[in-house]
Amino acid sequence: MTSWTKKDLLSLYDLEAEEIQFILDTAAEFKKVSERRVKKVPALRGKTVVNFFVEPSTRTRTSFELAEQRLSADIINISASSSSLSKGESLLDTVKNIEALQADIIVMRHSAAGAHNFISSHLKCGVVNAGDGAHSHPTQALLDIFTIIEKKGGVKGLNVSIIGDILHSRVARSNIWGLLKLGANVTIGGPATLIPKEFAEIGVRVCDNLKDAMEGADVINLLRIQHERQKASFFPSIGEYSKIFGVNEDTIKYLKKDALVMHPGPINRGVELASSIADGPQSVILEQVTNGLAVRMAVLYLIAGSLD
Ligand code: CP
Repeated sequence: MTSWTKKDLLSLYDLEAEEIQFILDTAAEFKKVSERRVKKVPALRGKTVVNFFVEPSTRTRTSFELAEQRLSADIINISASSSSLSKGESLLDTVKNIEALQADIIVMRHSAAGAHNFISSHLKCGVVNAGDGAHSHPTQALLDIFTIIEKKGGVKGLNVSIIGDILHSRVARSNIWGLLKLGANVTIGGPATLIPKEFAEIGVRVCDNLKDAMEGADVINLLRIQHERQKASFFPSIGEYSKIFGVNEDTIKYLKKDALVMHPGPINRGVELASSIADGPQSVILEQVTNGLAVRMAVLYLIAGSLD
């Protein structure tokens, strides 16, 4: 593959393995740029990127904005409360107005699964999914996979365990799609009430206890309990969840010494992950954040190129 033709990045489910690899290879080039003394390139000069975040974000929003600055784009930031959504305007009217102002790319986070697929079919500008409900968070999975490749030399044949609230996690879904396409062995672990049964049908190993999910893993990726998307009680208490599924000084013994500990953030310290492990020698959590910048530069660069 030598060029990118898609105007949107909606989900890793939509991409072929070679397209995922193409983004990762492009990100590796941008990581080198990020390590130079002069970190800015003119690739998106004259392009306008609108960051439209209808849900809260620290890492994703900041790294998209920084990526856009590094690529020399013109940038506008809009939040739900500062947009006319709060006055009853529809999402489609809002994004059509943003496009009418000659935005080239809209980077959006929205609580509704499928919101990006809906708007992208009505827009000529590029649409990048920065997270939609419990559905998809493609740039998070790309930066997770990028980090695994950087540390382990590849993902094919590696054992990657994703542990926690799988049911409500867009990060889990995106990682599962991306990792399976690139040939990893994926395990999901957590309380049975938080594990959707359909993943076993697509080749994912399912564990309902922490020890089995951790033993033999080359990577564990821990997820927080996503209370904002839970409409029922899925386990008795946070204390009980932490006791059974928390990775801490006692349970880290199940993990190989050279295995990576990952987390997309935000971490609920002391619940799914103890501080001593989050900040310990096996953790690559802040390196994931750093790699998010290169991955998002790559995504914006490729999509902008497809619009020319
Ligand atoms: N990992 C992630 O999406 O973090 P934010 O919600 O802070 O963007």
